[in-house]
Amino acid sequence: MLAPAREVTDAGAPEVARLIADMAETLADAGGVGLAAPQVHESLRLFIYKVPAARAEGGDEVPLTAVLNPVVKPLGAEIALGWEGCLSIPGLRAAVPRFERVRLTGVGADGAAIDKEISGFEARVVQHEADHLDGVLYTMRMSDFRFFGFNEETMRYELPLPKVRMA
Ligand code: NI
Repeated sequence: MLAPAREVTDAGAPEVARLIADMAETLADAGGVGLAAPQVHESLRLFIYKVPAARAEGGDEVPLTAVLNPVVKPLGAEIALGWEGCLSIPGLRAAVPRFERVRLTGVGADGAAIDKEISGFEARVVQHEADHLDGVLYTMRMSDFRFFGFNEETMRYELPLPKVRMA
């Protein structure tokens, strides 16, 4: 799980479609917004994610999307702190610095190219999930351990997050 995952060589393979379906079920059961293949012990460069309308820029939800061989590149130097949890580290969350805007490229479950510029929470989610493909967990990205703890505790004693800082 902590080693870099392998490229998906055949996006149309039935095993890939089956893996995506299994991951979608796991994500739905857990009530999360993203899941990477290494989290279900498949060392492949593939993740699924969604953004509920309440968290989406402009209120436009992102339906469940699979991204194969994703590449996430920062756009600009703007960095924001925001809360994240992870199905691999249940019960905990932390405020993690992430690039505010990124370009996501990859291949969809249908084999079509994905190339989009995204920001805010969606950009945060894809950076978190892409990290899983290289064995990186959000705790390895943290800059301030005051913003780390059990869900209930960090919600009760919500510290105001610094707004945005520059890289
Ligand atoms: Ni995670």
